[in-house]
Amino acid sequence: MELEKVMTERHSTRAFLEVPIPREALDSLLFLSTRGPSAINLQPWEFTVVMGEERQRLSRVLVKAMRERNISCGPDAVRPLPEYFMDRQRKLMDCILPSLDKETDFQEFINEGSCNFYGAPAGIILTIDRAFSKSRLVDAGIAVGYMVLAAHNMGLGTCPIGLVTAFTEEIRELLNIPDEKNIVIGIAVGYPDPDSPINRTISERAPIGEVARFY
Ligand SMILES: Cc1cc2nc3c(=O)[nH]c(=O)nc-3n(C[C@H](O)[C@H](O)[C@H](O)COP(=O)(O)O)c2cc1C
Repeated sequence: MELEKVMTERHSTRAFLEVPIPREALDSLLFLSTRGPSAINLQPWEFTVVMGEERQRLSRVLVKAMRERNISCGPDAVRPLPEYFMDRQRKLMDCILPSLDKETDFQEFINEGSCNFYGAPAGIILTIDRAFSKSRLVDAGIAVGYMVLAAHNMGLGTCPIGLVTAFTEEIRELLNIPDEKNIVIGIAVGYPDPDSPINRTISERAPIGEVARFY
């Protein structure tokens, strides 16, 4: 597929078919995700791929913790955000809401869905060694970017799940991730459900004039 088409067509998938991903497809996806650049070619990214019953077990633990501790998806900002950021958040909600049943609460859908990897057959947990400074999160982000594009090109859908970082203790324990690894993000991966309206929602982007300056 042409790169521009992959980049403009791709969007997050929030409903998946109950179809397992063949191991070779997951291997290809990780191979392509790790073709990106990284500082001094350190390749700080590490992946824990959780599938099938293990993925469901992980989700049960995450949903329980999310409900007990009343945790919700949010911008994770350290101070109040300027209005234009809040406006983008509202626009995302406006874009997703029409595809949900009337009885479904938006925030609940996102919170429960995220902990459930939206029903995807695979959840990937990306970690980097704690020895790295936060600068290396850039490298990890590039790998996620490559992953979402490569997946789309392979007919797979993805949804990055930042919410997992609220449950690092639970994830460490269940997946034997040692303390010296920082849990950066989760990614839900699977075959998109073509009949689900949620998968037809396309979120907007700010015009370039709003995000770039030229000198
Ligand atoms: C770092 C990061 C964390 C995210 N965390 C979540 C999440 O926890 N739950 C969720 O439903 N979507 C999550 N998303 C998906 C974003 O909501 C989505 O990328 C954004 O709304 C733009 O939509 P698009 O991916 O469909 O283009 C995350 C995306 C990124 C890049």
